[in-house]
Amino acid sequence: LGFYTGAEDGYLYVDQMRVEDIRHQVPESPFYLYSKNRIMHNYASYQQALAGIDSLPCYAVKANNNLIIMKELAAAGAGAVLVSGNELKMATVAGFDPKRTVFNGNGKLPWELELAAEKGVLINIDSEFDLANIAAAARKTGKKVSVLLRINPDVDPQVHAYVSTGLASSKFGIRNSHIKWFLDEIRKEPLLELVGVHSHLGSTITKVNIFRDAALIMCDFVKMIREEGFNLKYLNIGGGLGIDYSHQGQVLPTPTDLIDTVRDIVKELGLTLVIEPGRSMVATSCALVNTVTGVKTNGSKNFVVIDGSMATLIRPSLYGAYQHIELTTPSKEAVQVFDVVGPICESGDYLGKDRELPTPKAGDGIVVHDAGAYCMSMASNYNLKMRPAEYLVENGKLRKIRHEERLEDQLKASFEGL
Ligand code: LLP
Repeated sequence: LGFYTGAEDGYLYVDQMRVEDIRHQVPESPFYLYSKNRIMHNYASYQQALAGIDSLPCYAVKANNNLIIMKELAAAGAGAVLVSGNELKMATVAGFDPKRTVFNGNGKLPWELELAAEKGVLINIDSEFDLANIAAAARKTGKKVSVLLRINPDVDPQVHAYVSTGLASSKFGIRNSHIKWFLDEIRKEPLLELVGVHSHLGSTITKVNIFRDAALIMCDFVKMIREEGFNLKYLNIGGGLGIDYSHQGQVLPTPTDLIDTVRDIVKELGLTLVIEPGRSMVATSCALVNTVTGVKTNGSKNFVVIDGSMATLIRPSLYGAYQHIELTTPSKEAVQVFDVVGPICESGDYLGKDRELPTPKAGDGIVVHDAGAYCMSMASNYNLKMRPAEYLVENGKLRKIRHEERLEDQLKASFEGL
């Protein structure tokens, strides 16, 4: 399932297809290569984990907004969690049910809220002004809007500061001490119906007791809010489950481990559990396939220069994230320690540091693993690099699911309206 090294020939495979063969079929380089089996398997793991409780699994579209991938998940019955009006438009095209969709964010714009209200999406309240804007959108559209309070539980997810969101110092969510103020305001708004609470602690979380700590805190808030006369239905515990980026056989909690730590809480309160996984749904389903441009040394360090870069995949440069790198073919060349770098004019442009690899040569294939989440969706045009094509392996066949961006797209954007 997904990517693996062939036991007999040492080649890299994706779902019975050699990545090296695919590379020769595909005209573009670099390109993102996905396994549909892996995506569906990851989603099925959540479905199995949720058996026996009322639940609403919402896929976090920000992780990967490829339309075909979104369509597959929508068709499989997933809900969606969105953070922009354009994500909402895309989710609509993909076929997600608005009633099973949550709109999140600390800076939602009036037009985005009006669109969400129009479509009947669940909306999270993030702040005082956000509540005012949501109420305004409800009045303008004349629609009744179901809202959740995004409460900051002040629990440390023990992850990189940039992906930590549930601490008191974070820009997200409302202050615990201020909940009653929000309840009073919501009472005054006949078009707003408070249906749940939400918390999202952060991303790449590897300890499930952190989710339990937060859920227990949220449980007290649910009781308090119910005592105030609100009929809460949803407990939304956000996303955040990590994956094994190390490829060292690290044993990480599964969706079942995650759900089992909160199962009793949800049942006791008679709530529907909403979860918002992004990374754990799609990260492992994909590799960024690159071509080696050349190998060089500066005397003390060796470099493999590839055609992919921080423009194609920014997580190592931005978070110092580790993503596993390997050649697509077996090799008997001497193993050396390399930095794997791109062609961008910045020293921060690297995909991997101090990696042991058999010495490659120009033209060889080299992949960056676990590239299905926050890689293509965070790609940029820096240095006028074009966002790459995407391919999906589906039923033993290769399917192109996104064209490589063209320079014409950039030229058009620059000149339109001038
Ligand atoms: N729900 C909310 C409210 C979120 O903010 C996020 C992610 C998710 C769900 C999905 O979390 P996941 O299951 O994917 O961890 N660019 C960073 C990750 C940023 C995550 C932002 N929020 C990275 O590449 O590591």
